[in-house]
Amino acid sequence: MIPSITSLLPWALLSQCVSAQLSSSISVPPVPSTAVTAATRSSSNPSSIPSSGLPGILLASSVPVRQNATAASSTTMEDVTAIVGLSPSMASTDGTASTATSARPRPSNTRPCNGHADFCQRKFSNISMVVAHNSPFVKEHNAASNQVYPVLNQLQDGIRGLQFETQKPNATSSIRLCHTSCDILDVGTLESYLATVKGWLDSNPYEVIAIIMGNNNGNSTRIPATDYIAPFQDSGIMKYLWTPPSSSLNLTDWPTLAEMILRDKRVVVMLDYGTDQSQVPWLLSEFDYQWETPFSPTDPAFPCTQQRPPNQAEDVSRDRMYMMNHNLNIEVSLLGIDGILIPAYSLLDEVNAVSGNGSVGLNVQHCEQMWGRPPNWILVDYYNFGNFNGSVFQVAAAANNVTYNDNSCCGSEVVSAASILRRHSFLAASCFAILYFVL
Ligand SMILES: *[C@@H]1O[C@H](CO)[C@@H](O)[C@H](O)[C@H]1NC(C)=O
Ligand SMILES: *[C@@H]1O[C@H](CO)[C@@H](O)[C@H](O)[C@H]1NC(C)=O
Ligand SMILES: *[C@@H]1O[C@H](CO)[C@@H](O)[C@H](O)[C@H]1NC(C)=O
Ligand SMILES: *[C@@H]1O[C@H](CO)[C@@H](O)[C@H](O)[C@H]1NC(C)=O
Ligand SMILES: *[C@@H]1O[C@H](CO)[C@@H](O)[C@H](O)[C@H]1NC(C)=O
Ligand SMILES: *[C@@H]1O[C@H](CO)[C@@H](O)[C@H](O)[C@H]1NC(C)=O
Ligand SMILES: *[C@@H]1O[C@H](CO)[C@@H](O)[C@H](O)[C@H]1NC(C)=O
Ligand SMILES: *[C@@H]1O[C@H](CO)[C@@H](O)[C@H](O)[C@H]1NC(C)=O
Repeated sequence: MIPSITSLLPWALLSQCVSAQLSSSISVPPVPSTAVTAATRSSSNPSSIPSSGLPGILLASSVPVRQNATAASSTTMEDVTAIVGLSPSMASTDGTASTATSARPRPSNTRPCNGHADFCQRKFSNISMVVAHNSPFVKEHNAASNQVYPVLNQLQDGIRGLQFETQKPNATSSIRLCHTSCDILDVGTLESYLATVKGWLDSNPYEVIAIIMGNNNGNSTRIPATDYIAPFQDSGIMKYLWTPPSSSLNLTDWPTLAEMILRDKRVVVMLDYGTDQSQVPWLLSEFDYQWETPFSPTDPAFPCTQQRPPNQAEDVSRDRMYMMNHNLNIEVSLLGIDGILIPAYSLLDEVNAVSGNGSVGLNVQHCEQMWGRPPNWILVDYYNFGNFNGSVFQVAAAANNVTYNDNSCCGSEVVSAASILRRHSFLAASCFAILYFVL
């Protein structure tokens, strides 16, 4: 039975609106959860609506979605997102959701997750993503820089892991982003960087990212875990942070991208040392969740051996995510400090290439041979260089068995704050009109 266009329309628009609004930073009042429940109820025959008319993310049957819309209506926004994003085929006409084990055929996805519809049902731990090494360190003519393009371009071009050092140059300073020492390269506060990332997440509600931080650059005085709360809170990014269900996770324990998107918990935050998950549960102790190949490599053979955490049993490593560090360094002296590692700039065309000696493509193949699966994270300097612009993304796409559009990189125009604002106000206005119409 084909539902009429008019019964489809409010459904499709409403769900688009709610997800857009949930991700909006502009002062739009949240859609009251009771209204959402009411809309669910008032739809004439929701069970006949194909979910392909909705933002095409389907919940896997394993997702612990609330089975009871009444209960959901009195709880958090997170639940509201799940209920609205939920395929209406899972909701019965009286507004109570039926179990997700319905025999109804699954429509295909229409809304890509991290750029690919195929990724929606894949676990976060089953996708290779490119990481911008020292993402904030963008400064022309500074040898300690690691990237040409700033973080908004990075995200727009396909970077999904943001890695960097955090430092407190003195006890009263807020957390800052400094390379090796705040005297060498200081690009500002963690809060301001996070606020920029948060703005991008607002306007890209189907993207999941990770923020992978270093604590005080090997300085044995670590920044206390609780000091990270203020910059995350004040930047506004807190609402997107994903909290793990346990203090370590194997590959099979991670949620799918669709689950993270529907709950709007789209940012995984890790710190290498000094975490305290009993007090700051969203700040993951990196090495309980993933391991890394040698850090700051100066060896162009890029061994795939595990370096951090040290002495981890091989079977544990095989069961966990891993990061392949593929940034080639040379040692220099700067401002009287010896042994500073900076990117081997002149070799980037080879280091970030799809194939050839020392290439990121070959490195992924070696790691895959050694560990039976490609790395989750492919960390690079100056991601826009390679044998062509965007070759690092080509490597990730090959690891993921998807195709990469090699004309899509790099440094693409990022929508200005003003145009985002206009878009959100327009969305807000139309959403209220639609809500009014539906009710
Ligand atoms: C739904 O949840 C409400 C509130 O928790 C509860 O009172 C009610 O019995 C539940 N209904 C069903 C069908 O489980
Ligand atoms: C994802 O899983 C499939 C099969 O389970 C595997 O072939 C593939 O290598 C995995 N990819 C990543 C990036 O883990
Ligand atoms: C280590 O960090 C602390 C502040 O967290 C600072 O006071 C100290 O000077 C740093 N030490 C070195 C060697 O950089
Ligand atoms: C601490 O560091 C901040 C940021 O670099 C700086 O502005 C401030 O002057 C420093 N304070 C002291 C006492 O050194
Ligand atoms: C992860 O797998 C290991 C076996 O490698 C097992 O001992 C451990 O209990 C698992 N951890 C979790 C959190 O499932
Ligand atoms: C790659 O390196 C090996 C030895 O390290 C060398 O024999 C070979 O000629 C190199 N290939 C290219 C294409 O440079
Ligand atoms: C890639 O982009 C940069 C500019 O961002 C350019 O300088 C470089 O030559 C381009 N080509 C390659 C092959 O990396
Ligand atoms: C890769 O994708 C193709 C279809 O695009 C599929 O036939 C093939 O089985 C996939 N390979 C793996 C290892 O998942």
